[in-house]
Amino acid sequence: MPKIAIVYFSATGHTQQVAEAVAEGATSAGATVTLHRIVGEDITNGRWSNDTIVAALNSADAIVFGTPTYMGGYAGQFKAFIDACGGIWYQQGWKDKIGAGFTHSQGLSGDKLNTLTGLSINAMQHGMIWVGTATMPEGATPEKTNRLSSYTGAMAQSNMDQPTIGSGDRQTAIILGKRVAEAAKRWNK
Ligand SMILES: Cc1cc2nc3c(=O)[nH]c(=O)nc-3n(C[C@H](O)[C@H](O)[C@H](O)COP(=O)(O)O)c2cc1C
Repeated sequence: MPKIAIVYFSATGHTQQVAEAVAEGATSAGATVTLHRIVGEDITNGRWSNDTIVAALNSADAIVFGTPTYMGGYAGQFKAFIDACGGIWYQQGWKDKIGAGFTHSQGLSGDKLNTLTGLSINAMQHGMIWVGTATMPEGATPEKTNRLSSYTGAMAQSNMDQPTIGSGDRQTAIILGKRVAEAAKRWNK
């Protein structure tokens, strides 16, 4: 049974809903899943630190990274976390773990691809094995899976006044979670 850690930042809860959907998908495929929220309180003088989260990520078979798209890229809080893991990169401590990513933003595009590209490059620097959505778009309306036609990772979009993410985006995140779990199972063989 693979261990999957989902690490994400979310200010107003939408990205958290995506993270929970990824967890649901991975759990349904037999993985043991833990969720880890990056919070600003763990950043001092620009430096993120949380030994409990780092230990959970170090012991996982797969790490799924998630952040809202801010100004066309990572949220600053998430970048502080990514940079704080530079020491792990130096030791190649996450080499051969499965990696995947997701982002949420308000704009239909909102430049979300840049965020996912950044997450995948970070995973490549760590020597991880990147897993995409591998699912065709069902259509472009909110109830359709992969309606934003994203393959590098799961994209979700909703307005700030929309309390819950749409069913299609939620389902897309579930699909990604399942795929990460299946990939981790095969990779662990
Ligand atoms: C500083 C800031 C920058 C943002 N930049 C973008 C952006 O470039 N593209 C976009 O579509 N939405 C942008 N947004 C909207 C956020 O993506 C949206 O608030 C976020 O995805 C909500 O996620 P959360 O509820 O998990 O915090 C921005 C929001 C903030 C606060």
